[in-house]
Amino acid sequence: NKILVINGPNLNLLGIREKNIYGSESLLDIAKAVEVTSEALGLETDFVQSNHEGEIIDKLQAARGEYDVVIINAAAYTHYSIAIRDAIKAVEIPSIEIHLSNIHSREEFRHTSVIAPVCVGQICGFGKMSYILALHAAADLQKRKQD
Ligand code: DQA
Repeated sequence: NKILVINGPNLNLLGIREKNIYGSESLLDIAKAVEVTSEALGLETDFVQSNHEGEIIDKLQAARGEYDVVIINAAAYTHYSIAIRDAIKAVEIPSIEIHLSNIHSREEFRHTSVIAPVCVGQICGFGKMSYILALHAAADLQKRKQD
């Protein structure tokens, strides 16, 4: 039951950047909440962040065989990185797309997710809870795999 949470560019600035959209909690605050929920759900979760597309792809490739589910907030890459989409598809790990904000109610360029078609599903608009809801979804995927 190993879960990898990947955070994309600028998410290291949470709590500082556009607080009206992303809230006042830092990425570390989110990481702590993720850890608490993971333990409660019996999941072993690693939490990473990168501002670099290639590094996110390297992390996805290295996840193959190591993790059961990937939870990914690809941030702005969501909207145009075919390379990250291809990596998600290539590694064949069930992946859950998440966003703090509701990308569908914001600028038009955020309405498109090029990774959505290769993910199991998308959770957006719930702030920190998007991460927590995704952990519950990941636990359920694992449970359904076992029985
Ligand atoms: C985001 C939404 C993206 O459109 C944006 O580029 C981000 C954060 C979110 O979590 O709401 O950096 O992924």
